[in-house]
Amino acid sequence: MRVLILNGPNLGRLGSREPDVYGAQNFVSLTKFCVDQAASHGYSAEVRQTNDEAELISWLYEAVDSRTPVILNPAAFTHYSYALRDACAQVSGSGLPLVEVHLTNPASREAFRHNSVISGVATGTIAGFGFHSYRLAISSLPVEPETDDR
Ligand code: DQA
Repeated sequence: MRVLILNGPNLGRLGSREPDVYGAQNFVSLTKFCVDQAASHGYSAEVRQTNDEAELISWLYEAVDSRTPVILNPAAFTHYSYALRDACAQVSGSGLPLVEVHLTNPASREAFRHNSVISGVATGTIAGFGFHSYRLAISSLPVEPETDDR
């Protein structure tokens, strides 16, 4: 089973970006961590990152069309992108898991991070556990493969 693990703007800069906030490990390390964790749950993970809202939206369409569960760190788009929310709604609305993840806990940070426009259309949200937010999201995915007669 495949899972798309999608990451929004600035997450490609992990390791050098505000390491006191986001940690010292880089995006390559996050990718490896996710691929390994997914494999141990029977999933083949494809981990992607973009700074481009349109590209992120096109990846969500791809998930819908290929019936692939999504783990999404929307990064700053979390707080204002209604376009991304509407694309996420198509994923969760089609019965696929759409798990919102954050490395940090936005609720304990600046006020502008307290609102997520994504949470309302996510299957669930996991925040505040660093790389382990992704591990917890992976472990939330269904173990059984989807059947055609759903
Ligand atoms: C983030 C939290 C967002 O507020 C921020 O804009 C990010 C990363 C996180 O993973 O903690 O870029 O999504």
